[in-house]
Amino acid sequence: MVLLCFCGLPNTLMGNEPAGELLYKDASVPVEKRVDDLISRMTVDEKIGQLSQYTLGLNNNINNIGEIIDDIPVGIGSLIYFESDPALRNRMQRRVMQGSRLGIPVIFGYDVIHGFRTVYPIPLGQACSWNPKLVEQACAVAAQEARMSGVDWTFSPMVDVTRDPRWGRVAEGYGEDAYTNGVFAAASVRGYQGDNLSDGNQVAACLKHFVGYGASEAGRDYVYTEISKQTLWDTYLKPFQMGVQAGAATIMSAFNTISGVPASANHYTMTDVLRQKWNFDGLVLSDWGAIGQLKNQGLASTLKEAACYALCAGLDMDMMSHAYDSSLKPLIEDGTITMKQIDEAVRRILRIKFRLGLFEQPYTPVASEEDRFLKSHSREVASRLAAQSMVLLKNDNYILPLSRMQKKIAVIGPMGKNAKDLMGAWCGHGKETDVEQLYDGLVTELSMRAELRYAQGCGMDGDERQGFVEAVELARWADVVILCLGERATWSGENASRASMSLPVIQEELAEELKKCGKPIVLILSNGRPLILNRLEQVADAILEIWQPGLMGASAMAGILSGRINPSGKLAITFPYSIGQIPVYYNQRKSGRSLQGMYQDMTSLPMYPFGYGLSYSHFKYSSLVASRSKIKRNEEVIVQVDVTNAGSVGGMETVHWFISDPYCSITRPIKELKYFDKQYIETGGTRKFCFHIIPKRDLGFVDGKGQLVLELGEYEVLVKDQRVVIELVE
Ligand code: GLC
Repeated sequence: MVLLCFCGLPNTLMGNEPAGELLYKDASVPVEKRVDDLISRMTVDEKIGQLSQYTLGLNNNINNIGEIIDDIPVGIGSLIYFESDPALRNRMQRRVMQGSRLGIPVIFGYDVIHGFRTVYPIPLGQACSWNPKLVEQACAVAAQEARMSGVDWTFSPMVDVTRDPRWGRVAEGYGEDAYTNGVFAAASVRGYQGDNLSDGNQVAACLKHFVGYGASEAGRDYVYTEISKQTLWDTYLKPFQMGVQAGAATIMSAFNTISGVPASANHYTMTDVLRQKWNFDGLVLSDWGAIGQLKNQGLASTLKEAACYALCAGLDMDMMSHAYDSSLKPLIEDGTITMKQIDEAVRRILRIKFRLGLFEQPYTPVASEEDRFLKSHSREVASRLAAQSMVLLKNDNYILPLSRMQKKIAVIGPMGKNAKDLMGAWCGHGKETDVEQLYDGLVTELSMRAELRYAQGCGMDGDERQGFVEAVELARWADVVILCLGERATWSGENASRASMSLPVIQEELAEELKKCGKPIVLILSNGRPLILNRLEQVADAILEIWQPGLMGASAMAGILSGRINPSGKLAITFPYSIGQIPVYYNQRKSGRSLQGMYQDMTSLPMYPFGYGLSYSHFKYSSLVASRSKIKRNEEVIVQVDVTNAGSVGGMETVHWFISDPYCSITRPIKELKYFDKQYIETGGTRKFCFHIIPKRDLGFVDGKGQLVLELGEYEVLVKDQRVVIELVE
C-alpha cells in the first residue's frame, strides 16, 4: 500500500532553544506568542507526546477498557480522568510539572454528558424542553462540578442528528432536527465554557462526533454511513457549524465511515470544512481508538499508515490508539510527514492549555464534596429541566392532573422503585443514593391527600409473572393506577443498538393485566429513545414521557401528576408507529406522489410527531401576520402570531416556526424548523411570538459544496396549521 501522505523532508528533529526569558511562562504575553515560544523549545519527542491521550484512574467506560498505563510518561498531552476528586489528578500533574523539561501541564478530559455529580435529564430529554437557556445553566453547573473535581475538558455536547432510534446513542443528542441540535450545541458550549476558560468553574467543550455518526446504517453502532454531500451539509454539519460559531474549543472525530472515507481520516471534513471554510482554530481529538480502527475499516493496513492518514487529514490528538506515539517519529524521519504538520497539531493543543490557564494554575484547588456538588442551585436547575423535558403524550378525559377525589393510588411497575436507570447512560459520577425514586416522589407530593401503595408487578425484563397477582390486587384496591415502566440505562448509549423498540413483553403484559381491573391507568415512561407504544397506548388513559430525568425527575413527574407543574415538553424526535416505518422524521423530502406510495399494511403516519406534546392549558393561535409580503435579500420580515391561553391554568408554550420552500433548484424538505420560542402565558393571557426572518439565514440553504443558495420566489412560513407566504424579490 503506497502511503498517501508524502509531504516533504523533516526540517529539524531537535528543539532549538532560543536565548533569553521563557516567554511561554509569562501570562502577560499573548497566547499565540507563548505558543510560538514554547514550540520553538520543544524536541520532536516532546511534541509527539502532546498528541496523545491515555486514561488515569479506574476506567469505568464499559465499551472501552483500555490498558492502564502504569508509568504514564511526563510528556503526555492529555488524560481521560476517571476519578471524582482532584487528588490523583494533582499528583499526576505534579509529576509532570516537576519531572518534565519544559513543564507543560496535562489537560484532563472526561465525559460530562448530562451532569458530573448532579445528573440532569439525558440530552434527548433536554431538547424536549425547548429551553436553551435552562440547558446552558445545566451545563454551567456541570462545568463547575467537573472543573472543581479535576476535569478541564468535557467530551460534550454530542450533536449527532439522529433519525434512526434503533441507535442507542440517540439518547445523547438533541434529536432528529439539525437546527435544534445546533441551538442546543451553542447553548451547551456557552454553559460549559462561559466567557473565560481560565475561570476555575469552566471547562473546554467538545462537539462530537464529527461527523455523520447519527446516520449509522440500520441503527447499528460503529458502522458505515452513506451520506451525500448535500445531506452532509444540509443536515449533519449544521449543528457543528453552530457550535463552532458559539466558540467551541474542541471537536471529536467520529467512528463512522462517511461514504467510503472514515471520519477520523477525512481530510474533506477535518481540514477543507473545519479549517478552511469555518476557520476553526481549536483542537480535533479522535474518538477512543478511532485511529487504530482505520485498519478495521479497511483504510490502513498498519498502525503507522493509520497515523499518517489521520494526521494528514487534520486529526490533532490520538485517544488511546497509541498510533501517534508509536508511529509519528518514524514518519517524520522517513519524510512522510513534516515537522510543520506536527507543529500545527501541537499548536492547537497548547493553545487550549494556555486558554484554560493550566500553565498558571496546573493544580485543581482541593475543595470538599459539599463545596463541589449538589448545591441548591444545581438541584433547582435539575428539577426545572426535568420538569420541562417531560412530554405529556396522552391525557384522555383529562384524567391528569389527578383528581383530589382519588384517595387510593396504586403505584405499580419496575421503574417505580428504581434509582440507577433514572440517571440514563453516561451519568458521570451520579450516585444512586442521590436519586429520588418515582414512588418516593409521589408519596412526597400526594400523601397528604391520598394513600399510596406500591407493587413491582414484574422486573424490567425476563418472564417472571408471579408479581402480577399482587399488582392486580393492588389495582383492584385503588382509585387510579400509576404504572411506571421503561428501559434500563444500559439499553441506550454507546454500543446499545436495539432491533426492537418496544418495551419488554413482560412489561406490556403487566399493563394489559392491570387494564382488566377497569381502573384508570396513568403510564409513566422512563426511556432513552422513542418507543413503539402500540400495545401500551391502548391500555393507558394517560402517558407521560419522563425520559431518563436524572436526580430530580421524581419530584418533577409527581408535580405534573398533581397539577403543581403544567407539562410543557414537546418531542424533539418522532415516535414511529412501527419500527418498519424507520426512518420517519418530520422534515422528509417531498414525494412525486404525496397521496400514493404509502404502506399497504398500516398507517404511514408516526404514533407521535416531532413537536408534539400536551399541556393542561388550552392554547389558541391567531392567524400569522407578516410585516411585509415581499422582501429583498438584504431586508428582514417579521412574522407574528398571538397565542392565547384559553385554559384554566397558566402554562408555557413553545412555538415552532417552519419554512417551506415549495420550488427550488435543489429540492427542499417538506418543511424545516428555523426558529422556536417558549413563553409563559397566564390564564386568559395573550403573548406575541415573533420570528424575525433574515433571508440568508432563514430562507437560504447550503448546497453540496457548502455554498449558500438563496433563490427568488415564494416561501411559506408555517406555525401549526397556519401559513403565510412571503416573496423574495430582486
Ligand atoms: C467513547 C465515545 C465517546 C467518548 C469517548 C471517551 O467511545 O464514542 O463519545 O467521549 O469514547 O469516553
